[in-house]
Amino acid sequence: MIAPHSSSTPARTVRSVRKAVVPAAGLGTRFLPATKATPKEMLPVVDKPAIQYVVEEAAAAGLDDVLMVTGRHKRAIEDHFDSAFELEQALAAKGDAVRLDAVRGPARLADIHHIRQGEPLGLGHAVLCARRHVGDQPFAVLLGDDLIDPRETLLSRMLDVHGRHGGSVVALMAVPPEQIRHYGCAAVEPAGEEDVVRVTGLVEKPSPRDAPSGYAVIGRYVLDPGVFDVLEHTPPGRGGEIQLTDALREPAAGGTVHGVVFDGLRYDTGDRAGYLRAVVRLACARDDLGPEFAAWLKEFAAGLEDGTAPVSRGLAA
Ligand code: UTP
Repeated sequence: MIAPHSSSTPARTVRSVRKAVVPAAGLGTRFLPATKATPKEMLPVVDKPAIQYVVEEAAAAGLDDVLMVTGRHKRAIEDHFDSAFELEQALAAKGDAVRLDAVRGPARLADIHHIRQGEPLGLGHAVLCARRHVGDQPFAVLLGDDLIDPRETLLSRMLDVHGRHGGSVVALMAVPPEQIRHYGCAAVEPAGEEDVVRVTGLVEKPSPRDAPSGYAVIGRYVLDPGVFDVLEHTPPGRGGEIQLTDALREPAAGGTVHGVVFDGLRYDTGDRAGYLRAVVRLACARDDLGPEFAAWLKEFAAGLEDGTAPVSRGLAA
């Protein structure tokens, strides 16, 4: 039995990995029409866009160089991580230090770069676009719509595992059989550590019958730069897209891919239900909003139970 990684593992920074790549060039079709003109990564989770949590997570794990892979209609992402001169001046003139800090914060999280993926040819292709920027060092990949709760330390744990085993490291989560068809799925064997496995094979979006395990690959990776050579020759796979999991199959067969098993809080903000869960959970966890919102939520949920929701109307409802 493999014990999942717990959030109490202390964060450790491993300096051999400094760069993070954040693919955010997908079309976001699951969230239309909201994503017709707004990138899904910019949808607000409470009061910050989803992608800001992702960049904060990279920075908290010691990655101080972040490359966003964006596409057409993604200008808002570039603007969000830039300075906003007029807004900053207006807030400074009002003496609103708190909001000024909030506006300046995103650009100060890391050394942030952008590159365009001309066509959304798949996640593997988005990662390949980062080749020149990354060079020949290992690097992290954090999917721009995959949110790990800020209280978790998954990425630090993955960097730690990478520091000891080298190669590439993927994040794995156990999912119910009927959900495995939405993910890449890993064949695994024990690797001598509680929450770490060796990945021996990978299948993209298998049917429950063909899934080699119940472990889904989620949106965090620490990759050996050798993956770029493989990606150069990886043909389009499932859905006609160049898949990152396809490119990891070869190193997995060679025994150089490990998985960190995670059972903490994770939200797929590119999916409507996942997005709603993220907003509710993170709002409840906030010191400023949580107590009042949670009290309202309890009342609302009680109303759902006994069929009287919404319990009240008017401003507070
Ligand atoms: P998804 O499959 O979740 O993104 O890719 P999508 O294609 O935008 O989703 P739907 O199904 O149409 O709603 C996972 C991550 O990879 C990025 C996405 O932006 C997301 O962060 N991605 C995907 C790219 O950067 N480029 C691509 O060509 C595809």
